Amino acid sequence: MSEVGSAVFPDLVGRVVLVTGGASGIGAGAVAAFAAQGAAVVNADLVHPAGGLARGQDGVWALRLDVTDENAVAQALADIAAELGVVDVLVHAAGTSTMAHAVETTAAEWDVNLDVNAKGSFLLAKHVARGLRAAKRPGRIILVASQAGKNGYRGMVAYVASKHAVLGLTKTMAVELAPDRILVNAICPGIIETPMKWREREEGAVVRGLTASAIEAEDRSQVPLGRTGTPADVASVALFLASDLASYLTGQGINVTGGMTMH
Ligand SMILES: NC(=O)c1ccc[n+]([C@@H]2O[C@H](COP(=O)([O-])OP(=O)(O)OC[C@H]3O[C@@H](n4cnc5c(N)ncnc54)[C@H](O)[C@@H]3O)[C@@H](O)[C@H]2O)c1
Repeated sequence: MSEVGSAVFPDLVGRVVLVTGGASGIGAGAVAAFAAQGAAVVNADLVHPAGGLARGQDGVWALRLDVTDENAVAQALADIAAELGVVDVLVHAAGTSTMAHAVETTAAEWDVNLDVNAKGSFLLAKHVARGLRAAKRPGRIILVASQAGKNGYRGMVAYVASKHAVLGLTKTMAVELAPDRILVNAICPGIIETPMKWREREEGAVVRGLTASAIEAEDRSQVPLGRTGTPADVASVALFLASDLASYLTGQGINVTGGMTMH
């Protein structure tokens, strides 16, 4: 990823930042960006080895976590609090997708999208908010939703439904947590070059009878700024939302789409 900049957000130095889905794509971009600002970053992902918090040579902590498991989420936050302190900032980027037209989508595909994307967002936001409230600390909850939380897209009914749910969760928690000065916002990325996007192009090609490269060209053609996005494009908005500069902003779904979605 390109460099987001060094220490442009001095208020983030020393903040405890939990990034879920930090092992790949957008989450990995957020891990790098917050670490570059001097935050204490925990990279939580399903792919990390079991065994609790482990500090890497780069100073970033790794933690195996399945975001759909409420007991594991509660335990992860207790472990982080014991080692580093209460989580100040959540960037929830763990997510998944499946590709199928609505009439071909199975109940199992529906469940996995809703479990990981919607329930996972709910569980992380709930337990991070509980920790902040108990400590009487302000904080920031940043959920990575999608422009699929605002529009319909062919071949992605379960994913689109799950991302609409994330925006409903964002608005409701923003209202409930505003008195605690816990600000809750979502980022709605457009087309971002990550392993998920590359897999979606391959699977979407089968569903739509096209080639992955035709879909990639179609992707670019839909973006007014003329290019697809990078994890760093998303990370810089996450930094802003976590910073003091965003202190009058809650309940929003911020598009990071190069102009592709404007509402
Ligand atoms: N790439 C895009 O174009 C795009 C666009 C809009 C929104 N998003 C959203 O951004 C988020 C990140 O997507 P990405 O493109 O970086 O995907 P990615 O597949 O590159 O990374 C997702 C990460 O989430 C982790 N993960 C999956 N299930 C998990 C679980 N149950 N518990 C913990 N970790 C789990 C994976 O191991 C992986 O490291 C997702 O929520 C995705 O829906 C992506």
